[in-house]
Amino acid sequence: MYNEKVVDHFSNPCNVGELTDADSIGESGSFKCGDTMKIFIKVEDGRIENIKFQTYGCGAAIASSSMLTEMVKGKTLDEAMHITNQNVADELGGLPPLKLHCSNLAADALHNAIADYRRRLEPDYTD
Ligand code: FES
Repeated sequence: MYNEKVVDHFSNPCNVGELTDADSIGESGSFKCGDTMKIFIKVEDGRIENIKFQTYGCGAAIASSSMLTEMVKGKTLDEAMHITNQNVADELGGLPPLKLHCSNLAADALHNAIADYRRRLEPDYTD
C-alpha cells in the first residue's frame, strides 16, 4: 500500500518534536479523521531556519510531515507558502488516494504558521 520512501519517513521521521524558541506555531486538523498537527518554525532573514512537527496523525501524516519539513528548511517564507500537499505527496513518490487528505495536515499547519508570523511581524501583510 505504501511505497518504500513513505515507509522510511514513517519509520524514521525527520524533525519530530517541539521548537521551544519557535517564532510561530501553526495548527491544523482533519474533519475526515479528527487527527491534528502542530508545526513550529524558526525564521531568520525571511527563511525557515528550523522546523519541527508534532502530530496525532496516521503513518501517512507522519511521513508527509517528515518530508515537508525537509523540503522547506532554508526556503523563504514565500517559497514555503507555495508548497502544497500535492508537492509533498509527489516528493514522497505518491500516497494511496484514500490517504491524500492526510498530507493536508502538514501543509495546512505550515501555511498557518507562516500566516500567523506575517500577521504579527509584517505590518503590510494581508491574507
Ligand atoms: Fe488522519 Fe491520516 S487518517 S491523518
